[in-house]
Amino acid sequence: MRPFVFLVASVAALGGLLFGYDTGVISGAILFIAKDFALTTHQQEQTISVVLVGCIIGSLAAGTIADRIGRRATLLGAGAVFGIGALASALAPSVLVLLCARLVVGVAIGLCSVVAPLYISEVAPAEVRGALVSLYQFAITVGILAAYLVDYALASQAAWRWMLGLALVPSIILITGMLPLPESPRYLFKIGRVKDARDELKRIAGNEDVDDEEAGIVASLSIHSAGFSALFSRPVRAALVLGIALAMLQQFTGINTVIYYGPRIFQLAGIAGNEAAILATTLVGVVNVLLTLVAIFFVDRLGRKPLLYAGVATMGVALSVLAFAFGQERLQGSLAGVAMVSVMVYVGSYAYSLGPIVWLLISEIFPLQARALGMSICTLGNWVANLLVSLFFLSMLQALGAPMTFSIYALLCAVTLFVVWRGVPETKREVLEQISLAPAQKPAAEVPR
Ligand code: BGC
Repeated sequence: MRPFVFLVASVAALGGLLFGYDTGVISGAILFIAKDFALTTHQQEQTISVVLVGCIIGSLAAGTIADRIGRRATLLGAGAVFGIGALASALAPSVLVLLCARLVVGVAIGLCSVVAPLYISEVAPAEVRGALVSLYQFAITVGILAAYLVDYALASQAAWRWMLGLALVPSIILITGMLPLPESPRYLFKIGRVKDARDELKRIAGNEDVDDEEAGIVASLSIHSAGFSALFSRPVRAALVLGIALAMLQQFTGINTVIYYGPRIFQLAGIAGNEAAILATTLVGVVNVLLTLVAIFFVDRLGRKPLLYAGVATMGVALSVLAFAFGQERLQGSLAGVAMVSVMVYVGSYAYSLGPIVWLLISEIFPLQARALGMSICTLGNWVANLLVSLFFLSMLQALGAPMTFSIYALLCAVTLFVVWRGVPETKREVLEQISLAPAQKPAAEVPR
């Protein structure tokens, strides 16, 4: 892979770092914010979930903005908005200011969650696109782990303002890194800057021979109408249904119950003390980072579908073991061990499958004319599902009990396997335009395979 392409993708992937850091940091910070501002439980819930509301707004707006001002400028803007929100959160003199600042942070994360994978996917050469888009998920997991460690290090000083304010660092790195980078060549073709677009394609390919790729992109632009009407053509509708299903199932299979409520699950399983539960959660963060590397190395070699089958099936088995263990009185003594192992296996399997590959697929299955808007809508579905799981997980535990709750997530893994089998095309090493054009050339019955 050319160092230039790797650099471009790595910088854009930093959008994931913002996302991951903020996801992870609030769980530790909220304890101290609650104390300083004497928050009620309801206000604590608002402080946490207002970010997700911002993400919903940001992801909804992202497609239109990315089509209007470009992928690069949108990412730069998102970095700046995130920085402002992080600073305002750290300095907030009142709960109201804090809530507004967290909403701004959410909007920036929502923008990044659409545009970072979109930009990477449009810049990446087909043979390494899977690895490069997976870098985005890798950055998310590094961000989550960094946040756990920062929370852990600053907890003794109750320094929540520093916990939130440190998010400024990744946003500054993202902005300075993005400034010298080029616009996506596909976007340049879309807005008619053909010469610049060709130059970028050559720079990415590392040679002059880009005629075939250019012809594919130009053909794709002429087949599909632009803007919102592009979303309603038959092949795009099929991609939309698949993308929304995958994006929502990524959340409905329960990953954020562990990421957000890890310590609670471990305490339920009998791991004594806050410290031990937090340490166990940090270990989850490490497993999440390391196993994402598996996706980076194998997603372009083995393909998207084999990793999804292996990962999601293992997630389902781990959840079933967890559900079974929580249901057995006589297992009480060994529950802590069983829970530790199954949660690690579950997170590890997610990390090389559903985590990165959902972002990858939704950046691949739309034709250029509909890509930004299509990704916007799928990502919106992801954030709505995220909000629902985070709002209802604790109530589900209370109302249904742990065995039933985890069984439901296991069942949703089975549903995901079915969707992968029936709907997901193997996109390994295919040029984006081949993927986008394929459904249009086939009879409708085969869409979107
Ligand atoms: C998901 C997040 C999740 C993270 C965990 C991402 O792909 O979208 O909701 O917290 O993975 O690593």
